[in-house]
Amino acid sequence: METTIGIAIVGTGAIAKSHIIAYQTFSESCSIRALCDIYPEKAKALASEMGLEVDVYADYHEMLKRTDIQVVSICLPPSVHAEVSIASMDAKKHVLVEKPMAPSLAECDAMIEASQRNNVVFSPVAQNRFRTPMMRLKTMLDSKVAGNVLHATINSLWWRGQNYYDLWWRGTWEKECGGCTTSHAVHQLDLMQWMLGMPQEVTAVMANVGHDNSECEDLAIAIFSYPGMLAQMTASIVAHDEGQELVFQTEQARLSAPWNVAASKALENGFPEDDAETAARLDSVYGQLPSLEAERHVGQVKNFLAAIRGEEPLLIDGPQGRNTMELIMAVYKASVTKTTVRLPIGKDDPLYTREGLVSFMPHFHEKKRSVENFATSEITLGKDAVR
Ligand SMILES: NC(=O)c1ccc[n+]([C@@H]2O[C@H](COP(=O)([O-])OP(=O)(O)OC[C@H]3O[C@@H](n4cnc5c(N)ncnc54)[C@H](O)[C@@H]3O)[C@@H](O)[C@H]2O)c1
Repeated sequence: METTIGIAIVGTGAIAKSHIIAYQTFSESCSIRALCDIYPEKAKALASEMGLEVDVYADYHEMLKRTDIQVVSICLPPSVHAEVSIASMDAKKHVLVEKPMAPSLAECDAMIEASQRNNVVFSPVAQNRFRTPMMRLKTMLDSKVAGNVLHATINSLWWRGQNYYDLWWRGTWEKECGGCTTSHAVHQLDLMQWMLGMPQEVTAVMANVGHDNSECEDLAIAIFSYPGMLAQMTASIVAHDEGQELVFQTEQARLSAPWNVAASKALENGFPEDDAETAARLDSVYGQLPSLEAERHVGQVKNFLAAIRGEEPLLIDGPQGRNTMELIMAVYKASVTKTTVRLPIGKDDPLYTREGLVSFMPHFHEKKRSVENFATSEITLGKDAVR
């Protein structure tokens, strides 16, 4: 019986290489058999660069007929994530889909339903969970080793030049389905809801302060209210140092990624003095937690393949990906209506569907410049928030 898992990758642009490298890391148990792109010459060039002997398709429907392919990795623009995921799952393929899971909650729900009716493994990409400092922080917060979280700061700080938005699908509500909140803060919001759960209410403001070829926001500031806790997020692509960080102020200490710990204790009059003993205790707990064998996309692919084989629970499933999209939609709704949005977002809400999103959101600018492809597919995946 064939035990090797056959892999197909749809979309051979910038992020596809991270998927290929991840599957190649596990070549004893899986084999990449097909690449697909509407520009097949891009797929052929990538196959050659990565040393792959694969079949190339321009139409994913043809590729889905293959019975020796069990997994489809979707590296496409957000606007087609749901369509291609659902078609793949209806062809009984397991699916790993890039972030953002889908542009609307209606599409997220349809993807989750497709995974259930076909009994396949479905995982939206959130590769930053698979980083040793994030896993360690999650363990420490879950165990309440430093007490409850009182205040979290989520700094999703990135930098992108004007021409970033010249790529045809970027900078539109219809195709990219959002600005820096959807495309960048999606990573940090996933980490936030994984570590803290979902908030009850969301307040937000957003703007486009520096990208004239995008309809969407390049800066958003939000506050998430939880019982006994507030979390604040800055989503930016105008931050030159890309100083991404997650900071948790707990009852006993400040814990953060990049890792840092500090603790205060009260003097007789309530003013602080350093609590070096608590900080040292927590530093030691952190240092003794296990390191991951595989990080980022390699880590997520390892978990995804193990889940397909029934050897591990899947860390990021459809409902987890949907939670992050619900936070993003709440940020958009709160920003536009200038009100506090209470979760969950119902099926009768305009922000439930893509059509609703597209008609509801303002155009900060009209997109005037468009290129089919950049000359290079080289990208960076963010500065290390996880040293
Ligand atoms: N996880 C991360 O850190 C990360 C980083 C970058 C991008 N992404 C995500 O990956 C996805 C792709 O981004 P990218 O930067 O690689 O984009 P890209 O434009 O470089 O690549 C997308 C590819 O899909 C192809 N394509 C478009 N529609 C198609 C269709 N219907 N059928 C077949 N091929 C089609 C395009 O020709 C292109 O080659 C996006 O959702 C993006 O948000 C994730």
